[in-house]
Amino acid sequence: ARGAAASLDLAGRHVVVSAGGTREPLDPVRYLGNRSSGRQGHALARAAAARGAEVTLVAANVELADPAGVTVVRVETTAELHDAVVALAATADAVVMAAAPADFRPSAVSGDKIKKSADGSAPAIELVQNADILLEISTQRARPGTVVVGFAAETGDATGSVLELARAKLARKGCDLLVVNDVSGGAVFGSSDNEAVVLAADGSAREVPHGTKTALAHVIWDEVARRL
Ligand code: CTP
Ligand code: CA
Repeated sequence: ARGAAASLDLAGRHVVVSAGGTREPLDPVRYLGNRSSGRQGHALARAAAARGAEVTLVAANVELADPAGVTVVRVETTAELHDAVVALAATADAVVMAAAPADFRPSAVSGDKIKKSADGSAPAIELVQNADILLEISTQRARPGTVVVGFAAETGDATGSVLELARAKLARKGCDLLVVNDVSGGAVFGSSDNEAVVLAADGSAREVPHGTKTALAHVIWDEVARRL
C-alpha cells in the first residue's frame, strides 16, 4: 500500500472511472443485469483522488457510499453509461472502464408489467446489442493523449488461453491498457481482493499478485501515469 509519502503524480489531471453493472429494463419493475459490485471502480476512484487527480466516477447501480472528493454521476443503463462516458472522455486525461455494461438490452420495454399467461406459456425476450463504449472511446479519440483502460474477466476456451483471448480483446478494442482477471477458478465478483495481469498495447504485460482492489488500482494508475 502507498503511505503518506505517496506522490501526487495525478495532480492537475482529470480522470474518469466507470463502475458497477448496468441494468436494462424489461418492464416497469424488471431488468436484465449482472453481479458487478462496483468495488474495483470505487477503489480506482479513491486511489486517483489520493494521488491528486480530479475524479469523475460514473456509477451504474453501485450500492457503496460515494468516495470522498470524487464527483459521482449515476447511471442505470448501458445507453446512459455510454452518453456520460463519451461526453466526459472529450476532455479527460484518462478513462478507465471498470464497469460491466450489459452487452444486450431487450428490444422493447413493456410499458405495463409483463403478466403470466393462462396457458402456462412463457414470453420470449428479444435482445439487441448495446453500443461498445470502450471501443468507441478508443477508436474515436476526441483527445489523442487520453489514456484508455479496459477490463476483461476471462476464462480460457477452445479458441485460446486467457492471455491469448485478452491480447485479442486488447487489439480489437484499441485501448492502451487491458486489465485481465482470470476467472476460470471462480468469479471475483463482490470480493475485496483481486489478481490480474495488466496488458499494454505496446506488448508489455505486468502481473499483479493477489492483493486488494486498492493495490491493483495503484498499479493501474502507475501504468496510466507513465503514459500521460
Ligand atoms: N465494455 C464497454 N461497452 C460494452 C461492453 C463492454 O465499454 N458495451 C467494456 C467493459 O467496461 C470492459 C471491456 O469493454 O472494460 C471489456 O468488456 P468485456 O465484456 O470483456 O468485452 P466484450 O467486448 O463485451 O466481449 P465479450 O463478448 O467477451 O463479453
Ligand atoms: Ca461483455
